[in-house]
Amino acid sequence: MAEKNKNEMVVTPWEVRGKVDYERLIRDFGTQPLTEELLQRIRKHTGELHLQLRRGLFFSHRDLDVVLDLYEKGTKFVLYTGRGPSGPVHIGHLIPWIFTKHLQDKFKTRLYFQMTDDEKFLVKDELKLDEAKNFGYENALDLIALGLKPENTFIIFDVNDIDLLYDIALEVAKRITYSTARATFGFQESTNIGWIFWPAIQAVPCFIHAKLTGENVPALIPAAIDQDPYWRVTRDVAQKLGYYKPAQIHCRFLPGLGVGGKMSASELETSIFVIDPPDVVKRKIWNAFTGGKATVEEQRKLGGDPEVCTVFQYFTFLFEKDDKKLAERRMKCKKGEILCGECKTELTEGVNKFLIEHRKKREKAKNIIEKFHIKR
Ligand code: TRP
Repeated sequence: MAEKNKNEMVVTPWEVRGKVDYERLIRDFGTQPLTEELLQRIRKHTGELHLQLRRGLFFSHRDLDVVLDLYEKGTKFVLYTGRGPSGPVHIGHLIPWIFTKHLQDKFKTRLYFQMTDDEKFLVKDELKLDEAKNFGYENALDLIALGLKPENTFIIFDVNDIDLLYDIALEVAKRITYSTARATFGFQESTNIGWIFWPAIQAVPCFIHAKLTGENVPALIPAAIDQDPYWRVTRDVAQKLGYYKPAQIHCRFLPGLGVGGKMSASELETSIFVIDPPDVVKRKIWNAFTGGKATVEEQRKLGGDPEVCTVFQYFTFLFEKDDKKLAERRMKCKKGEILCGECKTELTEGVNKFLIEHRKKREKAKNIIEKFHIKR
């Protein structure tokens, strides 16, 4: 690929960097903005809007209106999301999963969760297959720790469950040409052939519900927008195969604690992992990029900028549930009434409290994980 300017936006399923322009992504990817009208429609079914909707974390969609039309006329939908298990989970991963659980609770619907150990093996040079499978198991514990119910949650571990996926994957693969795949995913001469076939596997959970239950219903996929290329090709083949086109609701990337980009598992110091002990969490937050000024005097006088502050983002998307308190923090920051140290201290406390609880639930998940396996 051509040498890219460092700040240029790059958003693919395998790489996100530069300053992300979400309006432009809506145009480039040809998705729809999540309008106020649609949000109000969701609210009719869920009661108060989830904070990730109220605060704009989810900003774009495809066919959410269609799914709601069907739902209101009595056709249910299933939820589908997933994870490429290439390492431990960080807080940025948990955020859309928390929202997915909310949708599952409110719409009382089934969730298919795909653990793509195969994808990560193919895509990551250094990753061994056993390592990817093991991360898949470990990451599933983090998902279960969020409180999903086994009656309604089906985790697919690609390598172990391939027999369930393979027939639909073949139907999909036969209908996507190399030229479409190359244009959609940017494949190169040097791309391994496993990777080239692989998008057919990510399509399968969009359709698997019909095979398992005989019920043909659409899938709604809550996920970060970098996954969109997969859904474009899947949508193109859906109707040829007699299924509904999968619908999406897209979220932004939770920025890492550094400047720009998303929280990335490969940038260890700017992501908070669920396994990070309290002192590591503290260190990472203390080194975070904020909207603060160079000196205390300056900040008291001119105020800080919460809009660029990564610490403020953490409060916004997970750690401050109360809208009034969030607004207060924003205002105090802008007026110079609160300094970065105070926010960092409070965030550190909040994150550590959350993670200690999470890790307890994660331990318990080991006893019930089998109940979530799609092949139970
Ligand atoms: N490709 C995704 C990743 O690398 C994993 C994934 C599979 C996924 N199916 C999904 C993510 C559906 C979101 C929605 O992380």
